Amino acid sequence: MKTAKKIILWTLVAFALIQLIPIDRVNKPVDSKVNFVQMKQTPEKVSTLLKNACYDCHSDETVYPKYAYVAPISWSVKSHVNDGRQHLNFSVWGNYNKELKENMLDRSIEALKHKTMPLPGYIVYHDEAKLTEAERALLIQYFEEMLKSKTY
Ligand code: HEC
Repeated sequence: MKTAKKIILWTLVAFALIQLIPIDRVNKPVDSKVNFVQMKQTPEKVSTLLKNACYDCHSDETVYPKYAYVAPISWSVKSHVNDGRQHLNFSVWGNYNKELKENMLDRSIEALKHKTMPLPGYIVYHDEAKLTEAERALLIQYFEEMLKSKTY
């Protein structure tokens, strides 16, 4: 019993201590000239979907949920945001070259079709990111048209 109490105590201490490790949740300022939805004057319906379903991890406009303030969950959230931005950051779309834009549109279409994006774990806590079939189709169509008309 004594050992069990000690384990609980030290677990609590460790949990309290890891809360002190700082996490950078400050978003970089967004330049409207290179931000995807502003540059492309994306129709409101599409930009709302992108903001609700993709922008938290793929832009510099991340809105951190409450659970993102509790370690160690916060570490996982931040790592997804870093990783997501590294692959695709809609906030700096205008700085991408042609190949990268085509590649990202292609991969976004694939990710939407195969339902690998938005990340399944994220959808659980974000109702607004639970895309319906019609919403997925709308985003796919928007990206496909952009690819076809080369207006990326
Ligand atoms: C909760 C965070 C999160 C959300 C929300 C999210 N993504 Fe991602 N996305 C990631 C992470 C992390 C990666 C990199 C690792 C991976 O490929 O799984 C990624 C990778 C990608 C890639 C690159 C894949 C590749 O093959 O290089 C594309 C394209 C993408 N996401 C599109 C989207 C689109 C479109 C949406 C919205 C419909 C979206 N993502 C929503 C986290 C997210």
